[in-house]
Amino acid sequence: MSDIDSLEKEIMGAIAASGDDAALEAVRVAALGKKGSVSELLKTLGAMSADERKVKGPLINGLKDRVTAALADKKEAFAAAALQHRLETERVDITLPVRTEPLDPGAGRLHPVGQVTDEIIAIFADMGFQLADGPDIELDDYNFTKLNIPPEHPARQMHDTFYMRPDANGARHVLRTHTSAVQIRHMLAQKPPYRIIVTGRTYRSDSDQTHTPMFHQVEGLVIDESTHMGHLKWTLEEFCKAFFEVKSVTMRFRASHFPFTEPSAEVDIQCDRSGSEVKFGQGNDWLEILGCGMVHPKVIANCGLDPSRYQGFAFGCGVDRMAMLKYGMPDLRAFFESDLRWLKHYGFSLLEQPSLAGGLTR
Ligand code: DAH
Repeated sequence: MSDIDSLEKEIMGAIAASGDDAALEAVRVAALGKKGSVSELLKTLGAMSADERKVKGPLINGLKDRVTAALADKKEAFAAAALQHRLETERVDITLPVRTEPLDPGAGRLHPVGQVTDEIIAIFADMGFQLADGPDIELDDYNFTKLNIPPEHPARQMHDTFYMRPDANGARHVLRTHTSAVQIRHMLAQKPPYRIIVTGRTYRSDSDQTHTPMFHQVEGLVIDESTHMGHLKWTLEEFCKAFFEVKSVTMRFRASHFPFTEPSAEVDIQCDRSGSEVKFGQGNDWLEILGCGMVHPKVIANCGLDPSRYQGFAFGCGVDRMAMLKYGMPDLRAFFESDLRWLKHYGFSLLEQPSLAGGLTR
């Protein structure tokens, strides 16, 4: 066996024996590196006579090509094996049932306000409402004036507003006292028709068993050229049936007053409070759940629309109050005390999204 043959055998053996990329690289350097065995052989060609080079040249270059190819093959085999290993170890068994509870039962519960907000959004999204929002720190103009509550209007007193200092231009901000301000924002920014739902934080300087300085509201607004009070009643009825998960509800529309609606109504739903918890859809009691009405023509005009052409309804209610009613929580203040024991008792699983198809609560 010639020197070249035995060198080839030696290198091919080393390639076959190498167990990983690092070992293979060491073999490559020893053969094809600057001082490698094959490189050294190639260098000898220069000192050969032309005849000798004609014979040895193809032999040595052939060796170099076969070694290069064998190294590449082995490298590819390592890459394929590594990929195979990853595929096997990182495989996800999609037939495993979803874990419905967090591993630590005391942690990671969804707050009832978040749950109820998701439920309300799911119901209105199903009816074709779009989600809109606005800032907590709102212009006085949007929170009050454009909603037909001018500066000296008594309704401002009722809102127990947190006022900010006026800015350099004299414009004053407030912590929004209701989500109704988003009606204005939306109407100023978008073209009609509108069919929106808004949820978020609202603020009033008030604190007792059923009032906290920060609370949550949900607001609805529908405006086009033909929406009337009948649509409002139907929408609220469908909402209440879906939300309280009952087949039918009896509702009472009581005449009321809000500066931004005309006519205005407060809505009560029939319930039974004789037991320890409130039952909806039956009984002799009434519970007030929201305020609503036909959007006042002045509000429509304040947003640059023609009130002789556009009309529609709006409604607003307290999310926290809805949560208290649905899930039987007696004290609103506990909502915001961050007591883990309370959250563990009243909280919801993070992994179950409310939807009308899958069920709001399971
Ligand atoms: N903004 C009112 C409040 O905070 C609730 C309300 C009543 C909203 C009537 C409305 C409405 O959109 O039409 O008390």
